Amino acid sequence: MKVLGIETSCDETAISIVEDGTKVLTNIIASQIEIHKETGGVVPEVAAREHILNIIPTLKKAFAETNLTWTDIDVIACAPGPGLISALLTGTLTANTLALVKQKPLVPVHHILAHIYGNWLDRDQNTKFPILILTVSGGHNDLVLMKDHGDFIQLGTTRDDAAGEAFDKVAKLLGLGYPGGPAIQKAAINGDENTYNFPQAKLGQDNFDFSFSGLKTAVLYEIQKTYGKDFDPKNLDPSFVNNIAASFQRTISETLISRLIQAAKSHNPKEIHIAGGVSANTYLRNYAEHKLEQFNVPIKYPVKIQYCTDNAAMVASCGYFLYTKTPEKYQKWHNIQPNSDFTF
Ligand code: KG4
Ligand code: ZN
Repeated sequence: MKVLGIETSCDETAISIVEDGTKVLTNIIASQIEIHKETGGVVPEVAAREHILNIIPTLKKAFAETNLTWTDIDVIACAPGPGLISALLTGTLTANTLALVKQKPLVPVHHILAHIYGNWLDRDQNTKFPILILTVSGGHNDLVLMKDHGDFIQLGTTRDDAAGEAFDKVAKLLGLGYPGGPAIQKAAINGDENTYNFPQAKLGQDNFDFSFSGLKTAVLYEIQKTYGKDFDPKNLDPSFVNNIAASFQRTISETLISRLIQAAKSHNPKEIHIAGGVSANTYLRNYAEHKLEQFNVPIKYPVKIQYCTDNAAMVASCGYFLYTKTPEKYQKWHNIQPNSDFTF
């Protein structure tokens, strides 16, 4: 079964076609990173305009690359949220129109649950439930227990800044540009991770929520201690920047993985997955490998970096598993609405 996925939640216009939930036939991503670099972050109105320009060329490229036609497509899947409402509008409107005109079932997919399916792409379907999943992206941070396809329990979530947001904000303070995650990872290679001891939010033994705004503020105070309140990120000493980056990356990894360990002890998962943009981080992956060894279960991250950050293959994969579980739910065409607060 071939599912066409559509993703426009933030600053990537993406279309993908995935076979049987795992085999990626095409994965086209029109990235807006170069545009948003100028403002050091995503301006929703600018992102929305770019989606409108990019959606049809992206769709055409997906078909051109595979030589497939609409008769080959069984189902359409689209992420109507969470995300930027003006950006989501383009994806949902496109999905509704295509589903109506081409008479295909349409599956709405939660963007963060779609990230979870980044770990099914280019892999076989062999998985053992329950799976404990840490999703770390720009807007959201969740700890999820997945009992089966479509059966998710949220154990913990973001209280303030998500991990990716913290990477982006700290990178901005350090003058490292946007997006912050890859820039901090690069700077940290030449830094000493033990230079600074930044605080970690303690939320209690049975609490699986996350809070990173204090960490971001601690980094700000550390910079101000040396460079004064009105510091200019452009004037920071490179070795100072590298040491802050390395210490920040260590601290955030320790917090994320300690929460994962805590949850693994309570829920005895058969697999542990990490997904979302921040799961591209090499330090986090290595640290997780090392610390999670004690559970003796498979530890998975998306096999390609482009499956960590926003893409439509993960949307198509999630759509496939939801559709095959209850096809009757999606047979009759219905409009899907963009919803920036979509919960699961
Ligand atoms: O999942 P994603 O593409 O978008 C959202 O759903 O928000 O995540 C984007 C986030 C950004 O904050 C970016 O800085 C972060 O993922 N990111 C990374 C890395 N690559 C992307 N963070 C840490 N290390 C990386 N290598
Ligand atoms: Zn995302």
